[in-house]
Amino acid sequence: MLELKDISKSYTIGENTLTVLDGFNETINEGELIALVGPSGAGKSTLLHIAGGLDAPSGGQVLFEGRSIYSLKEAELNRYRGSHVGFVFQSHYLLDDFTALENIMLPRLILGGDKKNAEKDAKALIESVGLSDRAGHFPSELSGGEQQRVAVARALVNGPKILLADEPTGNLDRGNSDAVMDILASLSEKGVSVVIVTHDEALASRCRRRIRLEKI
Ligand SMILES: Nc1ncnc2c1ncn2[C@@H]1O[C@H](COP(=O)(O)OP(=O)(O)O)[C@@H](O)[C@H]1O
Ligand SMILES: [Mg+2]
Repeated sequence: MLELKDISKSYTIGENTLTVLDGFNETINEGELIALVGPSGAGKSTLLHIAGGLDAPSGGQVLFEGRSIYSLKEAELNRYRGSHVGFVFQSHYLLDDFTALENIMLPRLILGGDKKNAEKDAKALIESVGLSDRAGHFPSELSGGEQQRVAVARALVNGPKILLADEPTGNLDRGNSDAVMDILASLSEKGVSVVIVTHDEALASRCRRRIRLEKI
């Protein structure tokens, strides 16, 4: 479903060029649950951004269902990202002035979705992450684990085919990490391809496949 072909990424800082990825190849199939592991600075976040259409590689191609996403026009790329890719980051990036339910609805409304349907689906999602009774809470009125579960629900509101999670449990305790992992694992069982960057061996070992990046 998602093919990363001969991906390279270099950053130029002043006169120096820093190569982070060089000739990376991988295919991610439907419903896979993958742990992306490796030392800090190995390029895990960089790779996730490239895979999700957030940052173009310096070389190589990202193919989604056979189409090269970085050959798309800007508006099409935005639409691809909005409708097919969900992101979860270490920090939840929920908007402070919106309730949990509204935060979940927002990506749908941004894509031009109908408000009633968005609300209905957001309610189903907040229930699926066990937070129906917190729907009207603002992010500041939620615990860290609850905030992250809302962020996962928000990432799912447009029905993505790929969920990319960058150290999603980095700020959470064991119990909350396991709860977030349970949600991600159940998604992959529903056919969503899930890639999780994690330093947590307990979580990585629950993934069916592991991709290891080394510093180059
Ligand atoms: N925008 C950028 N400009 C320059 N260097 C960057 C940029 N983003 C990341 N890097 C560098 O690329 C390397 C890989 O970063 P990153 O993908 O965040 O690694 P990881 O997520 O595995 O810790 C790091 O050495 C980092 O400093
Ligand atoms: Mg990182």
